[in-house]
Amino acid sequence: MSVTPLQALPIDQLRQRSSTKWRSYPPEVLPLFVAETDYELAPAITEILTRAVRLGDTGYTPPEPGIREAFVGFAQRRFGWTVDPSRVHWTGDVMMGVVEILRRVIAPGDRVVVMTPVYPPFFDTVEEAGGVVERVPLARTESGWRIDLRGVEAALAGGATAVLLCNPHNPTGTAHTHEDLAALAELAARFDATVVSDEIHGPLAHAGHAFTPFLNVSATAAEVGYAVTSASKTFNLAGLKCAVMVAGGPAQEEVLRSFPAEVEWRTGLFGALANVAAYAPESDAWLDSLLAALGENRALLADLLAQHLPRARFLPPDAGFLAWVDVSAYEWGDNPAPTLRREAKVALHHGPLFGEEGIGHVRINFGCSPDVLREAVERMGALASS
Ligand SMILES: Cc1ncc(COP(=O)(O)O)c(C=O)c1O
Repeated sequence: MSVTPLQALPIDQLRQRSSTKWRSYPPEVLPLFVAETDYELAPAITEILTRAVRLGDTGYTPPEPGIREAFVGFAQRRFGWTVDPSRVHWTGDVMMGVVEILRRVIAPGDRVVVMTPVYPPFFDTVEEAGGVVERVPLARTESGWRIDLRGVEAALAGGATAVLLCNPHNPTGTAHTHEDLAALAELAARFDATVVSDEIHGPLAHAGHAFTPFLNVSATAAEVGYAVTSASKTFNLAGLKCAVMVAGGPAQEEVLRSFPAEVEWRTGLFGALANVAAYAPESDAWLDSLLAALGENRALLADLLAQHLPRARFLPPDAGFLAWVDVSAYEWGDNPAPTLRREAKVALHHGPLFGEEGIGHVRINFGCSPDVLREAVERMGALASS
C-alpha cells in the first residue's frame, strides 16, 4: 500500500519557531544543521499537548506516566522486539540516560569505546561520567560503514570497560547488522564490558534496511547491555525532555533501580505525554508518512549532490534524516561548514566536531521540504563553481 509522504511546513511558518534550528542564524541562511525536523507534529501529540496547555497541566511527571506500556507496544509493533515492561525506565533525555548509566558501570578514568565519526556529545558525555574516550573509528567499506570489531576487541583487551554504541549511527546513518551487533555483544561478554546502545534513530530505518535493537540480538547482548532511546528524534520532541532506558537483564535492572529518584524526576511532563502519544498505535500512520517523505528526500539528496556537487562523496544513510557528506574535494578547509554558511548561506553541522574523521565533511539534515533541500544544495553548488 502506498503511503502519502508527509509535507514539511512552509518556511515562513518554520521561521516563526523559536527552537535552535530557527533562532541560531539570520533568515537568509537555510538551517540544515541541528537534528530538528520541519513537519507538523503527529496529530495525537498535538492533541495531548494542546489539552495539557488548556488545562494548565504543567506540573511534575507522575509515577506511572504510561511510558512503559507505550514503549513496549511500539518496540513490539515496529521492531518485533519483546521488552519486559519492568525493565523500562525514563529520564529527561537520551544523553542524561547515557551519562547516568556510564557513571554506574565505569570507574573514574576507565576507557569507553566510541566509534568515530560520532554524534559530538558522546565525547563530553563519556568525560562527564568520569571516563576517557577511546576512539575506534568505524570501518568504511564499499557499501557503507561497519563496526571495526577487531579494533573494539583490541580496545577491550587493552582495558576499556564500556562501549557507547550509536545504533543506528549518527552521522553515517548506519543501521548496524545483526551479525556485527551479536559479535560486539560476544566481545563485551568476553571482556566483562558493558554496551550502552543509543537507539534514538531506531524508528527511522529506510525501505530495504532494518534497525536491529541491540538488546534483542542475543541472550548475551541482553546480559551486557542497556538501550537508551526516545521518540524525540523521530517525532521532533527534543525540547520536551523525555527518554527511555531499557535494562537488558536483571543485573542492569538493579543498576537502573539504584539511580537517585532525581534521574526519573528530570522527565518533563510534556515529554512524557508526547512520548506516550508518539509510541501509541495511532501515531504509526504519521510515522509511515514521515518515512515516506524522508525516503524521497534521501533519494533527492543523492541526485542533487550528483548534479550540483559531483565531487562530493556520500553514502545514503540506512536510517534517519542525516547525511554525512565528504566535500573535501572542494577545498573549503578542514571544516567546510563555516565557509558554506558565510558564502552559500547554508548552515550545516561541522564535520570535525564528530572526530578527526570529519575533516572535510559536513552533516546535512534532510528532514525538511524537498524545495529547501534543493535550494540548499543549489547554493552549495553555486559556491563550488564560483
Ligand atoms: C545519536 C543521538 N543521541 C542523542 C541525541 C540527543 O538526544 P537527547 O536530546 O534526548 O539527549 C541525538 C540528537 O540528535 C542523537 O543524534
